[in-house]
Amino acid sequence: MGSMKLSRSILRTFVILQFWGASGQQTAFSLIENGVVTNSTANITAGNATTTDNSDEIDVPIDLVLDLPEYALEDLISPRFLAYQWLLDHPRLSSLTEDRKAQMYALVTWYYSMQGDKWDETAQASFLNYDISECNWSTEVLCRNVTDGNITYLYLSDLETRGLEGIMPAEVAMIPELRSISITNCGLDAQLEEDMLPLSFYRTGLRRRLRNINYSGNRLEGTIPTRIGRLNNLNSLNFDGNSLDGPLPSELGLMDDLVSLRIESNRLTSTIPTEIANLMELEVLALEGNRLTGSIPFDIGALANLEELQLQNNRFNSTIPLVFGVLIQLKKLRLEDNQFSGTLPAQFSGLTNLEELNLENNPGIVGTIPPQWGNLQSLTELRLGGTQLVGVIPRSMCQILSINILEVNCSNVECPAVCTCQCQQAVVPNTNTTTSSVSRTP
Ligand SMILES: *[C@@H]1O[C@H](CO)[C@@H](O)[C@H](O)[C@H]1NC(C)=O
Ligand SMILES: *[C@@H]1O[C@H](CO)[C@@H](O)[C@H](O)[C@H]1NC(C)=O
Ligand SMILES: *[C@@H]1O[C@H](CO)[C@@H](O)[C@H](O)[C@H]1NC(C)=O
Ligand SMILES: *[C@@H]1O[C@H](CO)[C@@H](O)[C@H](O)[C@H]1NC(C)=O
Ligand SMILES: *[C@@H]1O[C@H](CO)[C@@H](O)[C@H](O)[C@H]1NC(C)=O
Ligand SMILES: *[C@@H]1O[C@H](CO)[C@@H](O)[C@H](O)[C@H]1NC(C)=O
Ligand SMILES: *[C@@H]1O[C@H](CO)[C@@H](O)[C@H](O)[C@H]1NC(C)=O
Ligand SMILES: *[C@@H]1O[C@H](CO)[C@@H](O)[C@H](O)[C@H]1NC(C)=O
Ligand SMILES: *[C@@H]1O[C@H](CO)[C@@H](O)[C@H](O)[C@H]1NC(C)=O
Ligand SMILES: *[C@@H]1O[C@H](CO)[C@@H](O)[C@H](O)[C@H]1NC(C)=O
Repeated sequence: MGSMKLSRSILRTFVILQFWGASGQQTAFSLIENGVVTNSTANITAGNATTTDNSDEIDVPIDLVLDLPEYALEDLISPRFLAYQWLLDHPRLSSLTEDRKAQMYALVTWYYSMQGDKWDETAQASFLNYDISECNWSTEVLCRNVTDGNITYLYLSDLETRGLEGIMPAEVAMIPELRSISITNCGLDAQLEEDMLPLSFYRTGLRRRLRNINYSGNRLEGTIPTRIGRLNNLNSLNFDGNSLDGPLPSELGLMDDLVSLRIESNRLTSTIPTEIANLMELEVLALEGNRLTGSIPFDIGALANLEELQLQNNRFNSTIPLVFGVLIQLKKLRLEDNQFSGTLPAQFSGLTNLEELNLENNPGIVGTIPPQWGNLQSLTELRLGGTQLVGVIPRSMCQILSINILEVNCSNVECPAVCTCQCQQAVVPNTNTTTSSVSRTP
């Protein structure tokens, strides 16, 4: 316990966090390192997009559909024509409210636009059945509740084998209470901007209602449109596992209700824009598996709620950002397979909620494991192989009760006398990293 006390008092002189609270455009935190204050200086602006301008907002009038047949008849096999025809054939058309007609028309248009006639039977379920409420057409098209019959959630998943070529029709904006759209693992071959983010997302009331978009596991191509920043009531955005390229637009910083932002496993090539630091609600930021480069914006320290930061498998090439040490809610910090360099920051010792820390395969990391890291009392997994670390595992780390895996290169990093270590080839296939399992002295 003596060593723990020591490391805590050392810690105090290294890192003091001060959160100022947002004042004007100044960011909200400072990092104090050995008595030297670094304030976050960059002004956080979010590009030139504005969130308040609704001047171009239009409604999609239901009249356009029901009173102007030439609109719907323009193309006899178009999804909107098929939906229009379906609605006209409805046996109880005259008793339906306008809202209900709009919802049904939009949902059937969506069905045809997403190649519903090619879905497997489970997915098709009872779609288009006049005798069943559209709420109950499929267990996946969810209504807020069965009494009011409003559709809130469009959901399609795991149709990968077919390779859908659907598009998201503008008409979905006519579903009065739509909140969430999830089309995942469908192998959807489409352009993100042109096919999957129609203008009606931005120019109707849907813009304010939409909370979640999940397009993970498709084959979406193109860049992330800058105007996506206008969808600023979204709580979660997920484009994981697609083929998006180009930069992370700074306008993402306008989406300040985001709790979860995931764009892992794409082909993004840029730095992380400073504006990301505007997303003060963010709990999950997952950008792994891209070609992101450069350094991490210092202002990211403003993301005080961040619990999961996944930046592994990119091309980041700065020193390990000290500022991560202020993200005290972090549970998972994954930085492996990059070109981070320099020494391990003692400043991480404030991350007392951290469970998983991975820095392996950053060959430019040098030095020793800081004794202050014994303060990481929630750690279960620490991976430091594939670096140039040397020296002895700090005694203080043997006192971390929760630790299961401490991975280092056993040729270079020794076990302290007070710990028990087992050095062995890791059981993980396809890696030659040696593992040191550290346990406490009896
Ligand atoms: C940092 O910001 C605080 C609060 O705004 C201010 O009092 C202090 O003078 C600043 N320090 C430096 C070095 O800019
Ligand atoms: C921040 O913005 C304010 C007001 O827009 C400006 O006066 C100041 O110079 C900016 N500071 C920096 C560091 O860009
Ligand atoms: C904002 O507008 C200015 C002037 O039109 C332009 O130079 C700048 O690149 C724009 N910034 C962004 C982030 O679009
Ligand atoms: C949907 O099905 C459930 C269970 O069969 C039923 O209770 C509910 O009334 C149906 N909803 C509508 C809107 O018909
Ligand atoms: C279900 O719908 C009814 C009727 O619109 C509404 O009064 C009730 O609050 C809704 N319940 C929920 C949980 O949304
Ligand atoms: C949906 O909710 C609105 C109020 O938001 C209500 O007027 C309408 O009747 C509900 N039902 C349908 C099927 O749209
Ligand atoms: C999005 O879809 C994926 C794949 O189905 C799922 O794992 C994830 O939990 C979904 N939700 C969010 C918010 O990302
Ligand atoms: C990081 O990589 C980028 C792109 O390859 C390069 O332009 C930049 O100079 C590198 N920075 C450092 C510090 O090596
Ligand atoms: C692991 O080591 C073996 C023997 O030294 C070598 O043949 C193999 O290629 C290595 N595998 C990896 C993934 O580095
Ligand atoms: C471990 O370190 C030794 C000595 O520096 C080196 O030869 C070996 O390649 C390292 N192993 C790994 C998996 O990095």
